[in-house]
Amino acid sequence: MSFKRSHHCGDLRKEDSGKEVTLCGWVSKRRDHGGIIFIDLRDRHGIVQVVIDPAHDAKDFHKAETVRSEYCLQVTGFVRDRSAETINPNLPTGEIEVVAKELNILNPSKTPPFYIQDGVDVDENVRLRYRYLDLRRPEMQKNLILRHKVCKAVRDFLDDRDFLEIETPDLCKSTPEGARDYLVPSRVNPGKFYALPQSPQLFKQLLMIAGMERYFQIARCFRDEDLRADRQPEFTQLDMEMSFIDEDDIMTLTENLIAYVFQKTLGVELKVPFGRMTWDDAMDKYGSDKPDLRFDMQLVNMNDALQGTQFKVFKDIIEKGGLVKAINVKGYSTIPRRELDGLVDFVGIYGAKGLAWIIYNEDGSIKSPIAKFFSEEELKRILAVGKAEPGDVLLFVADRKPLVVAAALGALRIEMAKRRGLIDPDKLCFTWVVKFPMFEYSEEEHRYVAMHHPFTSPCDEDVDKLLTDPAHVYAKAYDMVLNGVEIGGGSIRIHDRDVQKKVFEAIGLTDEQAKEKFGFLMTAFEYGAPPHGGLAFGLDRLVMLMAKRPSIRDVIAFPKTQSAMDLMSQAPNFVDDKQMRELHIRSTVLKKEEK
Ligand code: AMO
Ligand code: AMP
Repeated sequence: MSFKRSHHCGDLRKEDSGKEVTLCGWVSKRRDHGGIIFIDLRDRHGIVQVVIDPAHDAKDFHKAETVRSEYCLQVTGFVRDRSAETINPNLPTGEIEVVAKELNILNPSKTPPFYIQDGVDVDENVRLRYRYLDLRRPEMQKNLILRHKVCKAVRDFLDDRDFLEIETPDLCKSTPEGARDYLVPSRVNPGKFYALPQSPQLFKQLLMIAGMERYFQIARCFRDEDLRADRQPEFTQLDMEMSFIDEDDIMTLTENLIAYVFQKTLGVELKVPFGRMTWDDAMDKYGSDKPDLRFDMQLVNMNDALQGTQFKVFKDIIEKGGLVKAINVKGYSTIPRRELDGLVDFVGIYGAKGLAWIIYNEDGSIKSPIAKFFSEEELKRILAVGKAEPGDVLLFVADRKPLVVAAALGALRIEMAKRRGLIDPDKLCFTWVVKFPMFEYSEEEHRYVAMHHPFTSPCDEDVDKLLTDPAHVYAKAYDMVLNGVEIGGGSIRIHDRDVQKKVFEAIGLTDEQAKEKFGFLMTAFEYGAPPHGGLAFGLDRLVMLMAKRPSIRDVIAFPKTQSAMDLMSQAPNFVDDKQMRELHIRSTVLKKEEK
């Protein structure tokens, strides 16, 4: 028996009518119409209907009677036109069918735990446990095919522009200033550990010092952080670095790369250049450093309109240097009281201590628990600043900390847009967010930490403020944002030793500590490091958005769950004592018998 096939199931068309074909695939569906059996045979290219008619071959008809879903088959037969009334317009192969002459059962299958078809309503844990069956589903295959095409387009584009694809190590040195590391014990160096790379950041900078000039890599990265729909413990970056360039060069090149990828893989033409927005603006108008621009509903600053207000809650906050901001949910004056109460809890998640509202009814009347504290003039001003018209509702958050107001109202803006159906799923809104603050203050560590990483160059005009006013130093950093998701980020790096020293000092690292932690990079910088910079895209996130999927798990062949588990292989697991001894480690957790 030969396993060769002449055609793919999904490729057969009317033009093939009359041809003898051999197909291999899986049984998507089997229907027994008494004297005649129909099998929908599926391979990666699609589904075709196979007809087994005892008039042609009684022996194989008996075989076909035993066939069940997901059996793996080889079928030889001829293609014929379907009669007009049996044409299936929903199937690309729907105008023809294959009449079987010969049927081989290559392998039977147990009954799968769920239907192998698009849009199945199964618990994701079951899908993950039987991932190899989940991946047989056409929509999942489509995602992985798209991912392949994206990588191919990326390689073509960058190769054309003189980039070199260079691999960097997975067993690295643990360095601070990032997420938590995954550690790997070294057997031959007792007591010592490697760290898996959170990104190839240091290596790609070393490659610039090594004169590679233009580097890229489709690199696996590992971060032990809290997981979400768009975060995996291991994920893939399209990582890039270039020498002798500035921010504009990198942003122009990478937005053209994205436009090329969309054009090649989806046939979608994007408008370049993408818009740019400063971090300050993004936080002010959208309460987020990754604004979703598919809808408006901007945050409005109410501090001026509330000048001299007698409403104590707002007055106190403004006097203490805080912020009062609002969003206008247009046309939702009918919002039920129950929903409003729920929103108070919602903003609470983001640290807001309360939520106030003013409903501007269609008839011009006002309903609000706080309106009674305002003069008529004041109320008018508030409505005007909030651009409220009859039928709208204004939602307010006030706090002493501007970041709390931004986080709470920014999240509420997205939530209300979802509830009101304001987000067009077919829209693609790209923006750059630029000029990030260089540092953020860590309450936990009582010191400034690098917002991006400590090799990010400060803006030229802010270098003098590094040690005197770190809160107001901005960085040559940029993120690419698509539909409210950060799909990539990068920066121009520091290549001047004095500036690097000051940055370390600003985040409280002494010379000694910096040498200990990043010594190899610091030493390399002493040998004529070129000016350089780069960017890394989250490949999983990019493909997720291109495939219009809600989670990056859908575009990763074998992802982990929220608790960093692989349900199929049951990783992580306990290991033998012998293995532990060899690695010179002992666990503080009592080993339970594995089930
Ligand atoms: P950054 O940390 O911003 O930059 O990462 C780059 C991009 O990677 C994606 N990403 C993730 N995707 C899935 N799961 C995760 N846990 C995860 N974490 C990040 C995001 C993000 O934009 N070395 C720098 C880049 C540079 O400066 O050149 C870096 O790693 O889409
Ligand atoms: P109180 O005086 O605390 O009862 O608050 C009066 C109104 O102000 C209530 O409607 C609260 O929800 C609202 N409120 C209180 N704190 C805040 C806050 N931080 N931001 C917005 N509204 C608030």
